[in-house]
Amino acid sequence: MKVNYLRLSITDFCNLHCIYCRSSFSRNVHLAHSELLSFEEMELVIHWMAKWGIKKVRITGGEPLLKKSIATLVNMIQKIPGIDEITMTTNGTKLRQFALELKQAGLKRVNVSLDSLNRKNFLKITGDDKLYEVLEGIKTAQKVGLNPVKINTVVLKGINDVEIPDFIKFSMENSVAVRFIEYMPIGKQNKKNLYFSNITVKRIIEKDFGVLLPLNFSYKGEPAKYYKVGESKAIVGFISPISYPFCKDCNRLRLTADGKLYPCLLSNSFENVKKVLRGGGGEGEVKHLFDLALLKKVNLRNSPHLAYQKRPMFQIGG
Ligand code: 5AD
Repeated sequence: MKVNYLRLSITDFCNLHCIYCRSSFSRNVHLAHSELLSFEEMELVIHWMAKWGIKKVRITGGEPLLKKSIATLVNMIQKIPGIDEITMTTNGTKLRQFALELKQAGLKRVNVSLDSLNRKNFLKITGDDKLYEVLEGIKTAQKVGLNPVKINTVVLKGINDVEIPDFIKFSMENSVAVRFIEYMPIGKQNKKNLYFSNITVKRIIEKDFGVLLPLNFSYKGEPAKYYKVGESKAIVGFISPISYPFCKDCNRLRLTADGKLYPCLLSNSFENVKKVLRGGGGEGEVKHLFDLALLKKVNLRNSPHLAYQKRPMFQIGG
């Protein structure tokens, strides 16, 4: 599997405080502006990376839509020769405001993180009463054509596992694919007791909705396995990093908001692209870092060891 996909985190700031990600961090703790790569630095690095094989960029955070000039960045990346597709993962709270602008700037589609369809439970998980905004954001994204909109749902034992059938109904009623993600215990505040296996999620769905029929299409290089739900048109995906690790098919590198290039989500080793850039390094120096990350990636793929990631998702790029 060729590494052709970059996940680009543009900020570590988020307006939600999900119990498994940012809840133990005080609300305003985030990187200083000067620590973040500027849009121009991101553009330059992606311009080089496109020459080295990167074709697809997913913009993540923190929450990427907290950057008011986000459409400008999408437009800058869109113009880079060799980049075929720009997508985004967002918590959806600001999607209604930005969807049209993003589509016009060249964004292909969005994945929206949504762990509850119940207002009280949403508040409990995220610390904020913003379910309505997210649902409106999803509708708007569909309306402007950021399709297919996919929902990412991290299933948390004893918290939202009771909502699994509701998510299937939501998927049927709103023509969105829901993808159930297994919780990964990462970051200092990890809570192992929240883990809920996708094997059980599947069983719950089949009990209520009938057999899940495996679909042999997959969106390119995606970790999700997709199924059709019974006789309905609904599609459900499973991302199972714990019960069904997908390291050998992984085609992605990650660039964090503070300019560190990681070969793998679960690796604590990184190449400091920002330091090299700001120290006067050019294309050759950054290529060296890119090659080092690729080498580490290949080694990890051949003998995966799921190290304990010290940084939670918002600092790595969710
Ligand atoms: N385990 C699994 N998924 C996580 N996400 C964030 N933190 C974790 C975790 N510890 C999810 C987000 C988002 C996606 C990119 O990753 O909810 O939807």
